[in-house]
Amino acid sequence: MNVKEAIKTRRSVRTYSDTPISEEDLVDILECGCCAPSAVNLQPWFFVAIRTPEQMKRLCAVMGQVSEKLIPTLESQFSKHPEVVQETTAFIRKLGGAPVCLLVFQEKPEYTKTANSIAQSVAAAIENILLAAWEKNIASCWLTAPLEAGMDEKLRRAFAPEHGALMAVVTLGYTTAEPKAPRRKEGRYVLV
Ligand SMILES: Cc1cc2nc3c(=O)[nH]c(=O)nc-3n(C[C@H](O)[C@H](O)[C@H](O)COP(=O)(O)O)c2cc1C
Repeated sequence: MNVKEAIKTRRSVRTYSDTPISEEDLVDILECGCCAPSAVNLQPWFFVAIRTPEQMKRLCAVMGQVSEKLIPTLESQFSKHPEVVQETTAFIRKLGGAPVCLLVFQEKPEYTKTANSIAQSVAAAIENILLAAWEKNIASCWLTAPLEAGMDEKLRRAFAPEHGALMAVVTLGYTTAEPKAPRRKEGRYVLV
Protein backbone atom coordinates (compact mmCIF):
# COMPACT_ATOMS: atom_id res chain seq x y z
CA MET A 1 0.00 0.00 0.00
CA ASN A 2 1.46 3.38 -0.93
CA VAL A 3 0.95 6.55 1.10
CA LYS A 4 -1.87 7.88 -1.09
CA GLU A 5 -3.75 4.58 -0.91
CA ALA A 6 -3.35 4.53 2.88
CA ILE A 7 -4.65 8.10 3.14
CA LYS A 8 -7.63 7.41 0.89
CA THR A 9 -8.71 4.06 2.35
CA ARG A 10 -8.10 4.61 6.10
CA ARG A 11 -11.35 4.71 8.06
CA SER A 12 -12.26 5.17 11.70
CA VAL A 13 -13.09 1.66 12.87
CA ARG A 14 -15.11 1.01 16.02
CA THR A 15 -15.24 -2.81 16.24
CA TYR A 16 -12.21 -5.08 16.37
CA SER A 17 -11.40 -8.78 16.48
CA ASP A 18 -9.34 -10.08 19.40
CA THR A 19 -6.38 -10.86 17.13
CA PRO A 20 -3.35 -9.42 18.93
CA ILE A 21 -0.94 -6.93 17.39
CA SER A 22 2.65 -8.15 17.47
CA GLU A 23 5.12 -6.19 19.56
CA GLU A 24 7.25 -5.69 16.44
CA ASP A 25 4.34 -4.07 14.59
CA LEU A 26 3.36 -1.97 17.59
CA VAL A 27 6.87 -0.62 18.07
CA ASP A 28 7.15 0.07 14.34
CA ILE A 29 3.87 2.04 14.43
CA LEU A 30 5.00 4.06 17.47
CA GLU A 31 8.34 4.78 15.81
CA CYS A 32 6.44 6.16 12.80
CA GLY A 33 4.54 8.42 15.19
CA CYS A 34 7.86 9.69 16.54
CA CYS A 35 9.00 10.53 12.98
CA ALA A 36 6.35 13.27 12.67
CA PRO A 37 7.34 16.88 12.14
CA SER A 38 7.09 19.06 15.25
CA ALA A 39 7.44 22.73 16.16
CA VAL A 40 11.18 23.48 16.58
CA ASN A 41 11.63 19.71 16.67
CA LEU A 42 10.31 19.56 20.24
CA GLN A 43 8.76 16.11 19.66
CA PRO A 44 6.29 16.95 22.42
CA TRP A 45 4.51 13.57 22.53
CA PHE A 46 4.42 10.61 24.87
CA PHE A 47 2.51 7.40 24.18
CA VAL A 48 1.30 4.77 26.62
CA ALA A 49 0.42 1.59 24.68
CA ILE A 50 -2.13 -0.41 26.63
CA ARG A 51 -2.25 -4.05 25.59
CA THR A 52 -2.53 -6.40 28.59
CA PRO A 53 -6.00 -7.48 29.81
CA GLU A 54 -5.22 -5.99 33.25
CA GLN A 55 -4.32 -2.55 31.90
CA MET A 56 -7.21 -2.65 29.39
CA LYS A 57 -9.59 -3.39 32.28
CA ARG A 58 -8.25 -0.35 34.17
CA LEU A 59 -8.73 1.80 31.07
CA CYS A 60 -12.23 0.49 30.32
CA ALA A 61 -13.29 1.23 33.91
CA VAL A 62 -12.64 4.92 33.19
CA MET A 63 -14.10 4.67 29.67
CA GLY A 64 -17.36 3.39 31.19
CA GLN A 65 -17.56 6.66 33.12
CA VAL A 66 -16.70 8.64 29.96
CA SER A 67 -19.56 6.94 28.15
CA GLU A 68 -22.05 7.72 30.97
CA LYS A 69 -21.02 11.38 31.07
CA LEU A 70 -21.43 11.80 27.31
CA ILE A 71 -24.91 10.29 27.03
CA PRO A 72 -26.85 13.59 27.58
CA THR A 73 -24.75 15.45 24.98
CA LEU A 74 -25.03 12.62 22.47
CA GLU A 75 -28.79 12.32 23.03
CA SER A 76 -29.32 15.98 22.22
CA GLN A 77 -26.82 15.91 19.32
CA PHE A 78 -28.39 12.82 17.72
CA SER A 79 -31.98 13.14 18.95
CA LYS A 80 -33.29 11.68 15.67
CA HIS A 81 -30.74 8.85 15.61
CA PRO A 82 -30.85 6.87 18.87
CA GLU A 83 -28.86 4.10 17.15
CA VAL A 84 -25.89 6.50 16.84
CA VAL A 85 -26.05 7.19 20.59
CA GLN A 86 -26.17 3.45 21.25
CA GLU A 87 -23.26 2.63 18.90
CA THR A 88 -21.10 5.51 20.12
CA THR A 89 -21.55 4.79 23.81
CA ALA A 90 -20.97 1.05 23.26
CA PHE A 91 -17.73 1.84 21.42
CA ILE A 92 -16.50 4.27 24.06
CA ARG A 93 -17.32 1.89 26.93
CA LYS A 94 -15.35 -1.10 25.61
CA LEU A 95 -13.20 0.63 22.98
CA GLY A 96 -14.64 -1.73 20.39
CA GLY A 97 -12.72 -4.65 21.89
CA ALA A 98 -9.47 -3.25 20.47
CA PRO A 99 -6.42 -5.30 21.50
CA VAL A 100 -4.29 -2.16 21.80
CA CYS A 101 -5.16 1.33 22.88
CA LEU A 102 -2.74 4.26 22.84
CA LEU A 103 -3.03 7.08 25.31
CA VAL A 104 -1.42 10.12 23.74
CA PHE A 105 0.03 12.72 26.08
CA GLN A 106 1.97 15.89 25.53
CA GLU A 107 5.37 15.87 27.19
CA LYS A 108 5.78 17.77 30.41
CA PRO A 109 8.68 20.26 29.93
CA GLU A 110 7.93 23.94 29.97
CA TYR A 111 7.48 24.81 26.35
CA THR A 112 8.40 28.07 24.76
CA LYS A 113 5.97 27.34 21.96
CA THR A 114 2.25 28.03 22.06
CA ALA A 115 -0.23 25.34 23.03
CA ASN A 116 -1.42 25.47 19.44
CA SER A 117 2.03 24.48 18.08
CA ILE A 118 2.24 21.65 20.59
CA ALA A 119 -1.24 20.39 19.70
CA GLN A 120 -0.42 20.50 15.96
CA SER A 121 2.80 18.54 16.55
CA VAL A 122 1.03 15.84 18.58
CA ALA A 123 -1.74 15.64 15.95
CA ALA A 124 0.90 15.10 13.24
CA ALA A 125 2.30 12.16 15.24
CA ILE A 126 -1.18 10.68 15.66
CA GLU A 127 -1.91 10.86 11.93
CA ASN A 128 1.43 9.14 11.20
CA ILE A 129 0.35 6.38 13.58
CA LEU A 130 -3.03 5.89 11.90
CA LEU A 131 -1.42 5.64 8.46
CA ALA A 132 1.51 3.43 9.54
CA ALA A 133 -0.97 1.09 11.24
CA TRP A 134 -3.27 0.95 8.21
CA GLU A 135 -0.33 0.09 5.97
CA LYS A 136 -0.07 -3.06 8.13
CA ASN A 137 -3.83 -3.68 7.78
CA ILE A 138 -4.30 -2.52 11.38
CA ALA A 139 -7.35 -0.30 11.73
CA SER A 140 -7.74 2.54 14.21
CA CYS A 141 -9.96 5.21 15.67
CA TRP A 142 -8.75 8.54 17.06
CA LEU A 143 -10.86 9.61 20.06
CA THR A 144 -11.10 12.74 22.14
CA ALA A 145 -14.22 11.55 23.98
CA PRO A 146 -12.38 11.33 27.37
CA LEU A 147 -11.45 15.01 27.04
CA GLU A 148 -15.01 15.99 26.10
CA ALA A 149 -16.19 14.14 29.23
CA GLY A 150 -13.60 15.87 31.43
CA MET A 151 -11.91 12.56 32.29
CA ASP A 152 -8.51 13.34 30.76
CA GLU A 153 -6.86 14.31 34.03
CA LYS A 154 -8.06 11.09 35.64
CA LEU A 155 -6.45 9.06 32.83
CA ARG A 156 -3.23 11.08 33.07
CA ARG A 157 -2.96 10.44 36.80
CA ALA A 158 -3.74 6.75 36.34
CA PHE A 159 -1.42 6.01 33.42
CA ALA A 160 1.22 8.75 33.01
CA PRO A 161 1.45 10.93 36.13
CA GLU A 162 4.94 12.12 35.11
CA HIS A 163 3.74 13.48 31.79
CA GLY A 164 1.61 16.35 30.51
CA ALA A 165 -2.01 16.60 29.39
CA LEU A 166 -3.84 13.76 27.67
CA MET A 167 -4.42 14.80 24.05
CA ALA A 168 -6.20 11.76 22.58
CA VAL A 169 -6.85 8.05 22.71
CA VAL A 170 -6.23 5.82 19.68
CA THR A 171 -7.64 2.30 19.33
CA LEU A 172 -5.69 -0.15 17.18
CA GLY A 173 -6.65 -3.59 15.94
CA TYR A 174 -7.69 -5.90 13.14
CA THR A 175 -11.25 -5.74 11.89
CA THR A 176 -13.68 -7.19 9.43
CA ALA A 177 -15.75 -3.99 9.49
CA GLU A 178 -15.65 -1.93 6.33
CA PRO A 179 -17.09 1.46 7.30
CA LYS A 180 -18.22 3.67 4.46
CA ALA A 181 -16.19 6.84 3.99
CA PRO A 182 -18.11 9.71 5.60
CA ARG A 183 -18.88 12.38 3.03
CA ARG A 184 -16.14 15.00 2.55
CA LYS A 185 -17.17 18.64 2.24
CA GLU A 186 -16.69 20.48 -1.03
CA GLY A 187 -14.87 23.78 -1.37
CA ARG A 188 -12.26 23.22 1.31
CA TYR A 189 -9.36 24.49 -0.77
CA VAL A 190 -8.58 27.10 -3.36
CA LEU A 191 -5.80 27.36 -5.91
CA VAL A 192 -4.65 30.96 -6.31
C1 LIG B 1 -9.47 15.03 16.90
C2 LIG B 1 -10.43 13.89 16.61
C3 LIG B 1 -11.27 13.46 17.61
C4 LIG B 1 -12.13 12.38 17.38
N1 LIG B 1 -12.90 11.90 18.42
C5 LIG B 1 -13.69 10.82 18.23
C6 LIG B 1 -14.40 10.27 19.33
O1 LIG B 1 -14.33 10.75 20.46
N2 LIG B 1 -15.17 9.19 19.10
C7 LIG B 1 -15.26 8.60 17.86
O2 LIG B 1 -15.95 7.60 17.72
N3 LIG B 1 -14.57 9.10 16.79
C8 LIG B 1 -13.79 10.19 16.95
N4 LIG B 1 -13.06 10.69 15.89
C9 LIG B 1 -13.15 10.06 14.56
C10 LIG B 1 -14.03 10.91 13.62
O3 LIG B 1 -15.37 10.73 13.97
C11 LIG B 1 -13.76 10.47 12.15
O4 LIG B 1 -12.41 10.71 11.85
C12 LIG B 1 -14.63 11.22 11.15
O5 LIG B 1 -15.99 10.89 11.33
C13 LIG B 1 -14.25 10.87 9.69
O6 LIG B 1 -14.30 9.47 9.48
P1 LIG B 1 -13.03 8.66 8.94
O7 LIG B 1 -11.96 8.75 10.02
O8 LIG B 1 -13.48 7.23 8.75
O9 LIG B 1 -12.57 9.29 7.69
C14 LIG B 1 -12.17 11.75 16.10
C15 LIG B 1 -11.31 12.21 15.10
C16 LIG B 1 -10.43 13.26 15.35
C17 LIG B 1 -9.46 13.70 14.26
